[in-house]
Amino acid sequence: MKRSQEEWDALFKKRIELLPPEDFLVEYQSLLKRPRVLDLACGDGRNAFYLAELGFQISAVDFSEVALNKINARSNSNIRTILGDLSKPEIIETLDSFDSIIINHFIPPREIFLHLLTKLNRGGHLLFTAFREDLEMSDLLSSCKGNISFLEAEAVVDKLYSNSWGEFRGLIFKKR
Ligand SMILES: C[S@@+](CC[C@H](N)C(=O)[O-])C[C@H]1O[C@@H](n2cnc3c(N)ncnc32)[C@H](O)[C@@H]1O
Repeated sequence: MKRSQEEWDALFKKRIELLPPEDFLVEYQSLLKRPRVLDLACGDGRNAFYLAELGFQISAVDFSEVALNKINARSNSNIRTILGDLSKPEIIETLDSFDSIIINHFIPPREIFLHLLTKLNRGGHLLFTAFREDLEMSDLLSSCKGNISFLEAEAVVDKLYSNSWGEFRGLIFKKR
């Protein structure tokens, strides 16, 4: 179900505790290149804080001001928040380049995804997770499956995993 910005704001207002970081990210964080990581659709920052504690420098983008305010209130000097609507390609133009990119439980529009890869430094990894069925159905992934070189990348990890919330798919692309 796709939620509006107001719905996400309302959800983050209600949520008090930070959830634990994504299991797949914890398992594979050692693959991520340092120091600069983009956390796309970061929410209230469970993954950004996890990586910041490990010494990464995070740029965390989301369209929920409530979520970003919560991150800023915890003031971690390794995290910079950027308010932006990821349905609009212009937002990607304004970003610097990164050594790693993480996207957890958000499927960006195809145009944004492809543009995003131009912001990933060579040899850098893009780590991507979502509910299994969301990623299976995603036009974006079915178009890269048989044709990874079209992303100028190779898939290094493609894994199904489950936890108490359900069954997920995790993918990591390495940029050539
Ligand atoms: C399921 S949450 C995932 C948050 C975080 N990545 C995590 O794993 O905890 C989806 C996030 O996408 C953000 N989002 C949804 N549509 C967006 C858009 N068009 N632009 C920016 N952020 C968006 C929501 O505000 C929310 O924080």
